[in-house]
Amino acid sequence: MLKVAVLVSGGGTNLQALIDSIEAGKVKNAEIVRVVSSREGVKALNRAEKAGIETVVVRKKDYADEESYCSAMLKVLSECGADLIVLAGFLSVLPASLVKEYENRIINIHPSLIPSFCGVGYYGLKVHEEALKRGVKLTGATVHFVDEGCDSGPIILQKAVSTRIDDTPETLQRRVMEEAEWKLLPEAVNLIAAGRVRVRDGKAEIS
Ligand code: GAR
Repeated sequence: MLKVAVLVSGGGTNLQALIDSIEAGKVKNAEIVRVVSSREGVKALNRAEKAGIETVVVRKKDYADEESYCSAMLKVLSECGADLIVLAGFLSVLPASLVKEYENRIINIHPSLIPSFCGVGYYGLKVHEEALKRGVKLTGATVHFVDEGCDSGPIILQKAVSTRIDDTPETLQRRVMEEAEWKLLPEAVNLIAAGRVRVRDGKAEIS
């Protein structure tokens, strides 16, 4: 059984999609052992508690430096025996040494087709604002492994979503979530739990 720790910062709809897919048996051989939030009082924490998953809040600002923050995070993740870390709307940057420790065992969901509209400053609604500003006809979502860069790790899955002439950042965000994110993230976890994803020459391969 793959032990999954999910890191969140907000609404937690991607966390919910994963919880529901595991419960429905669509994601096999995986269990969420802990939900770690970078903020207190967010809806993602309620969703976890409702599903009977242990929660913990780890806020960067409570630590004197990157090193002590990293130690605290590593403790929280190793304590629950996490094999895979899922960033589901996690808006803090993980320390490089943690990323190294969990090489190819951290995945992130990003609300665009990487390498478009990604990197520093591109998160949440901002991604959709920029996509609409540029007038792209297709956007979507990407699940990728996390490396030391920002949104630069090996791409595991992508799904395209059409934009509409009357889209607002909010309507586009919702549609990208419904049509892409909430499907892709559970699918990626299922593939990893089945041992079907490996990284070769910096690229993720699915067997
Ligand atoms: C999602 O759209 C996710 O792709 C995005 O934040 C939202 C979180 O929603 N993540 C990023 O932009 C990361 N760069 P949720 O809390 O409801 O899952």
